[in-house]
Amino acid sequence: MPTTPHTTSEHVSLAEQWVASNYSPLEVVIAHAEGAWVTDVEGGRYLDALAGYSALNFGHLHPTLVAAARSQLDRLTLTSRAFHSDQLGPFCRDLATLAGKELVLPMNTGAEAVETAIKVSRKWGYERKGVPDGRARIVVMAGNFHGRTTTIVSFSDDPIAHDEYGPYTPGFDIVPFGDIEALEAAITDETVAVLLEPIQGEGGVIIPPDGWLREVRELTRRRGVLMVADEIQSGLGRTGSTFACDLEGVVPDVYVLGKALGGGIVPVSAVVADREVLGVFTPGSHGSTFGGNPLGAAVGRAVVGLLATGEFQERARRLGAVLEAGLRELVGRGVEAVRCRGLWAGVDIEPGLMTGREASHRLLEQGVLVKDTHGSTIRIAPPLVVTEVEIGIILDALRAVLH
Ligand SMILES: Cc1ncc(COP(=O)(O)O)c(C=O)c1O
Repeated sequence: MPTTPHTTSEHVSLAEQWVASNYSPLEVVIAHAEGAWVTDVEGGRYLDALAGYSALNFGHLHPTLVAAARSQLDRLTLTSRAFHSDQLGPFCRDLATLAGKELVLPMNTGAEAVETAIKVSRKWGYERKGVPDGRARIVVMAGNFHGRTTTIVSFSDDPIAHDEYGPYTPGFDIVPFGDIEALEAAITDETVAVLLEPIQGEGGVIIPPDGWLREVRELTRRRGVLMVADEIQSGLGRTGSTFACDLEGVVPDVYVLGKALGGGIVPVSAVVADREVLGVFTPGSHGSTFGGNPLGAAVGRAVVGLLATGEFQERARRLGAVLEAGLRELVGRGVEAVRCRGLWAGVDIEPGLMTGREASHRLLEQGVLVKDTHGSTIRIAPPLVVTEVEIGIILDALRAVLH
């Protein structure tokens, strides 16, 4: 009989033996969670300042979301899209309304939604813009992160994500993030879309220059190119507004959503756009067995319900200001730079002091979970249910680590 692991080290050894090592997790084995807090197998409690890369915007086990999932679990979980379910229409109506768009195409993971946005952009380009077949091009940004499929990694400039997965999908042009001249120069008659993250999350919470998103909107409209905003990490309340594009008053042609849309319970993603764009899909031209499943739709609809109140966006704004003020005080005291929008911060630790990975280890010892990205940067993105006192705990832990 295989023995059941109990301690942290037993669990970690088991995972090291049996789990493919495509991640390098911190040494904490989580067994329970509630709100902004998680508890490990040895009873240790930690403040979750990563929130599943924003998939847990509403915290762990949000009662409204758990109730929606539970009640759906007892009724109907999967139909496939071969049949209708009583959950899909209401979910898509509510999500489209939240986004101010006409149609929703539900998928599961973020990468699938990005793939869907790429496919719809190309098809739109051929059918509506008249681009010759097979010639469509999409402009993407340097430093992008849109997921892990072979097509998506084809236009990643991160060698770890990209290398050794060729042959690569053609049809993408990379320009510097935030550079409107370079973007304008890259657009040709064959360009169908500009795909961007309004704020680059994996890149280290990189915020483009003020006004750039508005310039992209104006340029794409003028040149007849779709503006596709990947709001998988930046959207759904994280930055203090429903979408990060809202911060500049910009409405893209296509929203790509995921992560928090599933409430941290099930994978739910979606592409949201007007009929002029999403209407190019016809039965059989795209699909997914699980996309739009009743369980995901019920949870997704409850997520939209939480966002429709505006409460979480307001919390992210208010508490984000507290987080930012605290982080700014650390600049010059072990922190080189801070970038913050709502409850989302990229913190560059002074490289001579320690790596982001070391900082994450030390924060773990202080009872705070974060994730490093790119060398000396850590990302702080607690669930939006976090309190001001808990923000203080994160800041105290960071101060302790930097001393
Ligand atoms: C902006 C963005 N797009 C796409 C993805 C991919 O999402 P998933 O991991 O659910 O495929 C991510 C994940 O981190 C992301 O941050």
